[in-house]
Amino acid sequence: MTFLSVLRTCFEKTVRRGRRSAAAEEADEAAAANELWDLFFELGTLQVATNFFSEHNQLGHGGFGPVYKGLLPNGQEIAVKKLSLDSRQGLREFTNEVKLLLKIQHKNLVTLFGCCAEGPEKMLVYEFLPNKSLDYFLFDKEKSASLNWRTRYEIVTGVARGLLYLHEEAPERIIHRDIKASNILLDEHLNPKISDFGLARLFPGEDTHVNTFRISGTHGYMSPEYAMHGYLSVKTDVFSYGVLVLEIVSGRKNHDGRLGSEKADLLGYAWMLYQAGRALDLIDPSLTKFNNDEAAMCIQLGLLCCQQSVADRPDMNSVHLMLSSDSFTLPRPGKPGIQGRGGRWTTTSTALTNTNTNTNTNATSTHSGVTKVSAGSSFVEDFSRNSISVSSIDEGR
Ligand SMILES: Nc1ncnc2c1ncn2[C@@H]1O[C@H](COP(=O)(O)OP(=O)(O)O)[C@@H](O)[C@H]1O
Ligand SMILES: [Mg+2]
Repeated sequence: MTFLSVLRTCFEKTVRRGRRSAAAEEADEAAAANELWDLFFELGTLQVATNFFSEHNQLGHGGFGPVYKGLLPNGQEIAVKKLSLDSRQGLREFTNEVKLLLKIQHKNLVTLFGCCAEGPEKMLVYEFLPNKSLDYFLFDKEKSASLNWRTRYEIVTGVARGLLYLHEEAPERIIHRDIKASNILLDEHLNPKISDFGLARLFPGEDTHVNTFRISGTHGYMSPEYAMHGYLSVKTDVFSYGVLVLEIVSGRKNHDGRLGSEKADLLGYAWMLYQAGRALDLIDPSLTKFNNDEAAMCIQLGLLCCQQSVADRPDMNSVHLMLSSDSFTLPRPGKPGIQGRGGRWTTTSTALTNTNTNTNTNATSTHSGVTKVSAGSSFVEDFSRNSISVSSIDEGR
């Protein structure tokens, strides 16, 4: 690997000098070099594994680039994500981010195996999940039948556990920022694993991330304060999680214009039903059997997570508690922060530019977890409601 010497130099600088013996330094260097070998896949290996990134092996294409299925010589299946990274992104920053991400491990997170940075392209190598992502099941009339109530409830709790880990327990706090159905991958037993955590960290100040939101329609999952002002906190993820929970129990996307104006917006519709005491009308009609108490709790929980008031949204610790305790009485949710799907808002780029400014500073932040949106919050709401009616971009997955 030709870049190894460059990387070794970078490590040398970080090796503590002082009064240590030359032998100890050499041992450190050898350990660092070994770590790098573990971290990097050779381009040739990935080319062979993916049949030279053939179209046939392509699993999907998100805002960050295409994803390919691959098979390593030892029989291990992998998913290779080619990142449309700007070449300005330094190898050292990239390596540091990947090293951090490799330490983020949990049963409800997709495992990152390593990366490849040979040539102009940078890639991430993940474990391959045979059932693809939740959206493939949930939003497909036939496939959604395989998601019975028990499975859905376990997906709701599994994603909560993964997010709790990212927010509170991981070696460094990670705010995901792109929680959505296509970022929940399913293993062979339909256990959920969150993917793409920490990806935004690899795109400091990049327009690519803006495109991600546009292309993949992530707007429907974004909290209003984040979409409008780039205010980022753990509650940004809590909001997206709430939208996801409502999608899981209702079996429909957060916005579906074909359902007519009353039902098109999932949050607005769920709120209306909840207030009318008819929350269970939201449940996916394809679910022939479900647990009423759990279903009602999930809807209430989803609405609590999507409240306009950031401070009133529970953190993932509370969410986890609500899901794991039978005796927990959930508070009544306040008004949801409906921000719609954006589409052609005039302020979209401004809002997202702010977001990207935050990308640099707060990606894994020292946030307290609560960002107050006081001034202008009514404006946010008014504007948001307007944005629903003017939005014209079809919701992504
Ligand atoms: N590790 C993986 N195993 C199996 N399928 C994957 C994996 N990672 C991604 N995919 C599939 O590739 C698609 C594209 O992924 P991605 O580039 O992250 O875009 P997005 O998340 O916006 O859909 C996903 O929707 C998912 O179905
Ligand atoms: Mg993804």
